[in-house]
Amino acid sequence: MIAPHGSPTLNPLYVADEQRRAALLAEASQLPDLLLNSAAAANAVMLAAGYFNPLKGYMNLADALSVTKDLKTSDGLFWPVPILNLTKQSGLKPGRYALRDPNIEGHPVLAIMDVQAVETVSDEQLQGMAKEIFGTLDAKHPGVQTFLGLGNQLLSGPIEVLNFSYFRDEFPDTFRTAAEIREEIAQRGWNKVVAFQTRNPMHRAHEELCRMAQERLSADGIVIHMLLGKLKEGDIPAPVRDACIRQMVEHYFPPNTVMITGYGFDMLYAGPREAVLHAVFRQNMGADYLIVGRDHAGVGDYYGPFDAQTIFDEKVPADALKIQIFRADNTAYSKKLNRVVMMREAPDHNPEDFIALSGTKVRQMLGQGIAPPPEFSRPEVAKVLMDYYQSLGG
Ligand code: ADX
Repeated sequence: MIAPHGSPTLNPLYVADEQRRAALLAEASQLPDLLLNSAAAANAVMLAAGYFNPLKGYMNLADALSVTKDLKTSDGLFWPVPILNLTKQSGLKPGRYALRDPNIEGHPVLAIMDVQAVETVSDEQLQGMAKEIFGTLDAKHPGVQTFLGLGNQLLSGPIEVLNFSYFRDEFPDTFRTAAEIREEIAQRGWNKVVAFQTRNPMHRAHEELCRMAQERLSADGIVIHMLLGKLKEGDIPAPVRDACIRQMVEHYFPPNTVMITGYGFDMLYAGPREAVLHAVFRQNMGADYLIVGRDHAGVGDYYGPFDAQTIFDEKVPADALKIQIFRADNTAYSKKLNRVVMMREAPDHNPEDFIALSGTKVRQMLGQGIAPPPEFSRPEVAKVLMDYYQSLGG
């Protein structure tokens, strides 16, 4: 199986040993508390699950700036997006802290952190990072808005994580750690594995991308890996997406060719940079390929449709990652052929021969109470979505 990123074995930061966990919990009651923001909590969950291997905790300012500028830490580890614990709380000192979970009532302890440095990040540094990571400083960009609102006190150092926040309980059938996915791939005997990133209910375009990748790469299986954390307003909630994806796989894919899984992270909307982060953590979970299509991890018109593919040529050194990218062109429904095609592979078509497929368009239709047609969404998927939109009273 493909090696993890940056180390021969996967070293998740979740404390699996019961006794050690009990000791840390006991220690936590004596430690000063720090209530995390959701971005830092999501980072802890990803570190816990092995997705951010080989990182040992939150980055310091030198690493954050180096990763932002050169996509590598000060030690030379390839890494595309700073993994930070920024807070607004001032007056903090190095030492051990109990990190508390902002996303669960009562704010239980999520992790213990050995804070090695507390650094103040200047406005100029914060904005410089935002500009590089998101490609814009527009306050309307949801990722920029979140990032610039996290605070300017940067706490760095190793963490030990006690649980998987709300993800394990809320998505018991779907949330998986990188180690668990590796195990299941091995159990299924799959040798060539394609990962599919999604924050959508999986419409026809998404389904056909998976099918095309599987066929063209002669892959043994697809791991659908859906984002289970926070999204921007208007995106479809994870339980609804999960139900749609299960319908689609059950009805339209042969048995034992698809794994339905999810990860606990908030969407960054960082387009190209996020695509590279996606590749890193799909390598960590044992995938040989990641599908990257049109406007991967994008939002609005901030990124060119294929920027998330070209970044792999421009900013990812050849030996940086073992995982490879399956580059998908714009897919659309061909009225001539009555199926979904990659547009560049239908050169005899005129623009009016295609129906453009996009999650945004489907969301707009649903918002108006219109069921997406079969060219857009499978009927079983459309039904789940219509039920959800009706439950909103819309
Ligand atoms: S994402 O933010 O998670 O990337 P989404 O769930 O819509 O959003 O997309 C999942 C994957 O499918 C991404 O790689 C994206 O580029 C690709 N994709 C979605 N729709 C299309 C399309 N019509 N043509 C080509 N690729 C697409």
